[in-house]
Amino acid sequence: MKIRTVEFIKSAVKPAQYPEYDFPEIAFAGRSNVGKSSLINTLINRKDMVKTSSRPGCTQLINFFLINGDVPQRELSMVDLPGYGYAKVSKKIRAQWQPMVETYVGTRNNLLGLILLMDIRRDPGKEELDMVRWLESKRMPCLLVLTKADKLSKTKQLKQLDAACTAFNRERNGIVLFSAKTRQGRQTIWDEIHSLIDW
Ligand code: GTP
Ligand code: MG
Repeated sequence: MKIRTVEFIKSAVKPAQYPEYDFPEIAFAGRSNVGKSSLINTLINRKDMVKTSSRPGCTQLINFFLINGDVPQRELSMVDLPGYGYAKVSKKIRAQWQPMVETYVGTRNNLLGLILLMDIRRDPGKEELDMVRWLESKRMPCLLVLTKADKLSKTKQLKQLDAACTAFNRERNGIVLFSAKTRQGRQTIWDEIHSLIDW
């Protein structure tokens, strides 16, 4: 996919604040600090279009980015969802997270799929298993990505991949190994996005 322009459109909490366009949209979800913003930046070849932070819980709003806003038929909306599960984020913020994301997924008609990121060094948690089950019940496509693959040897990467395949009952090609550092997995993720947006 040729990326001509990338624009930050807006941050939102509730549907009335979502951008009104209905371009194909892909959203990125996962625990705080897992590398959502870094993954988006890697996909769009920008260093820090999407703010990354070593301080977890940095993104607490739904952030909309528009790719190729000036290229008819090639517009793509990318959504950086707030991270969940970071202990130091206040209870109030955590209580807001779930309804915010559930409402987004439940009401956003141009949303074609989610990309759920997990740190390759952790085994999938209840949050991830629940989220995937919930998305499956809504028939919302969900690509699973194990991030920060560069932190493990190739052998250990495959071991974690197999553990994730068992946990989610998926084949090896249903889960992508990714690193923002080495760009491993970037093309596979783009291929999956292409198959969702149908061009
Ligand atoms: P929140 O917005 O706080 O939920 O975090 P996030 O999921 O957007 O994570 P972000 O992209 O900000 O990355 C968090 C930290 O992990 C940063 O210090 C990144 O540099 C680092 N990081 C992200 N991806 C990778 C990766 O693939 N490899 C390595 N080694 N570090 C990574
Ligand atoms: Mg972020």
